[in-house]
Amino acid sequence: MKYKMLLDLFEERSNDFLSGEEISNRLSISRTAVWKQINQLRELGYEFEAVSRKGYRLIYQPDQYHQDEIMQYVNTNTFGRRVHLLESTFSTQVDAIKLAEEGEKTGTLVVADMQTNGRGRQGKNWFSPAGKGIWMSLILRPELPIRYMPQLTLLTGVAVCSAIRNVTGVEAGLKWPNDILVDGRKVCGILLESATEDNKVRYCIAGIGIDVNLSEQDYPEELSSIATSLKIESGSMISRSKLIGEVMNELEARYEQYEKEGFAPILKEWEALSASLGKQVRTETPNLVIEGKAIGLSDSGGLIVLTKEGKKSTIFSGEVEILQPEQSKQSNS
Ligand code: BTN
Repeated sequence: MKYKMLLDLFEERSNDFLSGEEISNRLSISRTAVWKQINQLRELGYEFEAVSRKGYRLIYQPDQYHQDEIMQYVNTNTFGRRVHLLESTFSTQVDAIKLAEEGEKTGTLVVADMQTNGRGRQGKNWFSPAGKGIWMSLILRPELPIRYMPQLTLLTGVAVCSAIRNVTGVEAGLKWPNDILVDGRKVCGILLESATEDNKVRYCIAGIGIDVNLSEQDYPEELSSIATSLKIESGSMISRSKLIGEVMNELEARYEQYEKEGFAPILKEWEALSASLGKQVRTETPNLVIEGKAIGLSDSGGLIVLTKEGKKSTIFSGEVEILQPEQSKQSNS
């Protein structure tokens, strides 16, 4: 790497300052070349403190992806064994769909350092800045009728939530169907898109977006009160490669369990990791509003809600809002 010698110098000096003169002498380059390299590294996300008469101190290095490093953490048979690693892309969903159409097998993963048009659920954009999050899409070819897809969505949420807990110790929880929250703020979104034929799934792309090392100031205003990152919640930088590996390990294990034992064990785990159950929730469609207490999951993966009239309704799709106690007009809390 072009900047390796300079970065090695900073590493050798750990948290201390290096003067421009010393760098120039040690690397046998001019002071102007030192200044240029520092500025180029800044553009790549490195942060330096510059103090006159003391020099530069490296205070932040971006977590960069390396294929070998990711593979070090992947202990699976197929999931994540083949990785397409991209610096920048439109959306990893689009890349994975293209690969699936070309015949790529189950378990192939597309990972990008940044996305220019990350896509979220319900036509929303997904904020995907460089170097700070996990933006990835996994190709799956489940031999399932379409009606089982909601179960696969919940399975993915369970696996990602468990991986986050294992790697970071952060108490992440699931909001139906598969948002992952920490203290009410979203840290991860999951988008499953599938191609079908004759009522069967041809392939399914599990898109996973995790806010890993974002700081408060990285968020645009509209997200700052509703989103959070694992770094903000845990207080330390998290290795994205390690977390990708753990997500692959957890996902493959759940997927194999689902093939052998069906949905029942996944349903139990989802309920145990849930941030929705026991809460007042509300969903609204053009012709229906359901509001009540979330009390469990149906066998097919719908959210069962007990309304104030004492009626059980099951929500199968749409956005579900978790109501704060003061927002709730219910008495059955
Ligand atoms: C949501 O709205 O909650 C789902 C967000 C899914 C985002 C991920 S990031 C990787 C993959 N590529 C995309 O364009 N979207 C998904």
